[in-house]
Amino acid sequence: MAESLNILVTGTSRGIGASIRAALARHNIVGHSTRGRDGEVAADFSDIAQVTALWWEAMGRLGGHIDVLINNAGMFEETPIEQGDDGWLAGWEKTMQVNLTASAALSRLAVLHFREKGGGRIVNVASRAAYRGDSPRHWHYAASKAGMIGMTKTIARGYAAENILAFAVCPGFTMTGMAEDYLDSRGGAKLLADIPLGRVASAEEVAETVRWLAIDAPPSATGAVIDVNGASFVR
Ligand SMILES: NC(=O)c1ccc[n+]([C@@H]2O[C@H](COP(=O)([O-])OP(=O)(O)OC[C@H]3O[C@@H](n4cnc5c(N)ncnc54)[C@H](OP(=O)(O)O)[C@@H]3O)[C@@H](O)[C@H]2O)c1
Repeated sequence: MAESLNILVTGTSRGIGASIRAALARHNIVGHSTRGRDGEVAADFSDIAQVTALWWEAMGRLGGHIDVLINNAGMFEETPIEQGDDGWLAGWEKTMQVNLTASAALSRLAVLHFREKGGGRIVNVASRAAYRGDSPRHWHYAASKAGMIGMTKTIARGYAAENILAFAVCPGFTMTGMAEDYLDSRGGAKLLADIPLGRVASAEEVAETVRWLAIDAPPSATGAVIDVNGASFVR
C-alpha cells in the first residue's frame, strides 16, 4: 500500500469538506473549521492572521511536514447590488477574503514549504460559477472562484519544475446544506431540469475527484480543472 501523506484540508466540519476528510481517512489529516470542533483547527478566514496561524498549527501537528493542501472552505452569501455602497463593498470584500485571499495565503505558504522539501500538491475546490457566472446577488462568489482557477493555473505553470503540482475541481450544485438553500431560493426542483444527469452531485462524488487529484493524478495533469456538474455546464 502507498505511504500515508500529511494533508491539510480546510472546511472539514460539514458538506464537501467532511466527505473529503472521509475519502482521505487513511492519510494523516489536519482538518479545519471556523469554530474548530472535533479536533479541527479553528480559523475564521475573514481574519488573515488566523489563516496564517492555521498553516503553522497544521505544520506543528504534522511534524513540520505537509504533502498536500486542499483549499475547500468557502462561503456563499448574497450581496445584492441594490443595497448601500458600504454594505455591498463589505459583502464583496468578505467573500473575496474567505474564498480567494485565504486560499492564496495558504497556497503561498504551501509553495514555499514544498520548495524546501522537494514537492507537493495543492487542490483547490472552486465552482462551476468560475466559468458560468452566478446569480446577480453573487458577483463576488463567481469572481472569487474564477480567481481560484487563475491562481491554480499560475501555480501549476510556475512551479511544476520543482515538483509542485496544482489542480482544481469545479462542482456544480452539490447536495450539502449550502446547495439545499440555494436550490430552494432558485425554485427547487425546476433547476434539476438544467442538469442532464437529472440530479445534483453528491458530496462524495466531489470528494472522490479531490482525492484522486491529491493522491493519484499523474503529474502531467498539473493545471487541470475537473468539472463535476452532471454536464449542466460543459466547456
Ligand atoms: N455545495 C455546492 O453546491 C457547491 C458548489 C460549487 C462549489 N462549492 C464549493 O465547495 C466548497 C465546500 O462547499 P460546501 O457546500 O461543502 O460548504 P458548507 O457545507 O457550507 O461548508 C463550508 C465549510 O467552510 C467553512 N467556512 C465557512 N465560512 C468560513 C470562514 N469565514 N472561515 C473559515 N472557514 C469557513 C465552514 O466551517 P464552519 O462549519 O465552522 O462554518 C465549513 O467547514 C466551497 O468552497 C464551495 O464554494 C460548493
